Amino acid sequence: MEIKSAEFVISNTDVQKCPEGDKPEYAFIGRSNVGKSSLINMLTNRKGLAMTSQTPGKTQLINHFIINNTWYLVDLPGYGYAQRNKANRERLRQIIEDYILEREQLTNLFVLIDCRHEPQKIDLEFMEWLGENDIPFSIVITKTDKLSHSRLMENLKAYQAKLLETWEELPPTFLTSSEKKEGRDEILTYIEDINNSIE
Ligand code: GTP
Ligand code: MG
Repeated sequence: MEIKSAEFVISNTDVQKCPEGDKPEYAFIGRSNVGKSSLINMLTNRKGLAMTSQTPGKTQLINHFIINNTWYLVDLPGYGYAQRNKANRERLRQIIEDYILEREQLTNLFVLIDCRHEPQKIDLEFMEWLGENDIPFSIVITKTDKLSHSRLMENLKAYQAKLLETWEELPPTFLTSSEKKEGRDEILTYIEDINNSIE
């Protein structure tokens, strides 16, 4: 899919104030610093569209970006950032949870996982919660430029083995590097296919 236009629409903390209408949307979620905002910039090929930072906890709002005037990409705050104070962490958890459960236009959620880490309880539990609530999701493995190919394959296999302990089937999984612009065509084609199937 060609990205002809990508524009920021609105930031907010309240799912009720998200854009109206029935355009499909695709949101990015995962631990703080996993690379959600960078992935949005890479997919849209717009440096600086979504704000990124080396410091975890950069994205604190639900951010809507409209693509080709027909669908939305949504940048969400990260979860599980331990340094953040407890009240703020709880507030963000509630914003994310309300958005995921109440946003009818949410077509697919991309759950981002850093390729360097072993399976983390917080991510596994989050995916189980998605399953319990019938939220369709896919997995995006991020920062693949940080590992050798063989190490990456080892980690991927270990991750999938861990998932198969609780899941009968594996969700669609994408290998990406925002740094090297890898995985872009695969994700955009996946979104395009879903958009076409909805029309
Ligand atoms: P929060 O908004 O804080 O939850 O973080 P985020 O998930 O949006 O992460 P963000 O995109 O801001 O990236 C965090 C850090 O990881 C930044 O320093 C990025 O430059 C870096 N980063 C993101 N993607 C990649 C990647 O593919 N490769 C490498 N090497 N670094 C990356
Ligand atoms: Mg972010």
